[in-house]
Amino acid sequence: MKKFTSVDDIIDLEELILSAKKIKSDPFENSELGKNKTLGLLFFNSSLRTRLSTQKASLNLGMNCIVMNLNTEGWSLEFENGTVMDGNKAEHIKEASQVISQYCDIIGIRSFPTLTDKENDEQEQVINSFVKYATIPVISLEGATEHPLQAVADALTIQEYKTKRKPKVVLTWAPHPKALPHAVPNSFVKMMKLSEYDLVIAHPKGYELNPEITKGATITDNQDEAFKNADFIYAKNWSSYNDYGKILSNDANWTVTSEKMAFTKNAKFMHCLPVRRNMIVTDEVLDSENSIVIQQANNRTFATQAILKKILEDGK
Ligand code: CP
Repeated sequence: MKKFTSVDDIIDLEELILSAKKIKSDPFENSELGKNKTLGLLFFNSSLRTRLSTQKASLNLGMNCIVMNLNTEGWSLEFENGTVMDGNKAEHIKEASQVISQYCDIIGIRSFPTLTDKENDEQEQVINSFVKYATIPVISLEGATEHPLQAVADALTIQEYKTKRKPKVVLTWAPHPKALPHAVPNSFVKMMKLSEYDLVIAHPKGYELNPEITKGATITDNQDEAFKNADFIYAKNWSSYNDYGKILSNDANWTVTSEKMAFTKNAKFMHCLPVRRNMIVTDEVLDSENSIVIQQANNRTFATQAILKKILEDGK
């Protein structure tokens, strides 16, 4: 594995989930694998889980880990070629990525979308520029269009809690006061399709995700109907994709409540976190026994450790 920036980079999902499960049962089994190797984590945006779980995963593998908040601590980067750099961008991605490649053995990048420039976001300019110019493997810590490490943790969590081979999994839009990216739902949809689960996507009209990603999934604007007989409810907000980056509705009827959960088959409740209480989901649901969001966040470490282990082994 030379890069992990998309769910599409997974070659064998079953093997990956088995590896993550094994790591979870014995996190320090490969504590020599990363000896004298360095993971560099570059953040253009805030993080709690991704930052800490990725650091922890690297430490469990015996790696060194260095972290930089590029947006506040680094030079502003230029990504266009041929630009006369007479503005406020002090360093070109070509030099930056090659220099970082000398200090590290793997780089992780978090770079959210602009949600204003759809073309630029779709091209994953930041992460793909690092992939192009770096001489070491690159992993996404959440890009403009995907959050693949989250999706591996989600798949591991569903694997642990499912009671049938092909559970009904509902990805439901829920209200939020800010315009949010499509990365988590995109990667989740890809992962559920790869897992061959019974996926239903529920959202109000106008919140259709990229049709190339949702192709083949059942899509409805009737949340109550979608919840019927569901085994897993995965709540997430996203902004409009067609009316790019816009908030079209904040309909409180889409908040996940106990009344809505009653339609399900005693479904587990999932969310990638951070979650806005009583916007996305009520306290009652989030604090219920069926909520597995904390276990889901715990799996971020083991999912990431499985990816780092694969990259280290493949690079030997
Ligand atoms: N789920 C997730 O990526 O959390 P953070 O934004 O806190 O890293």
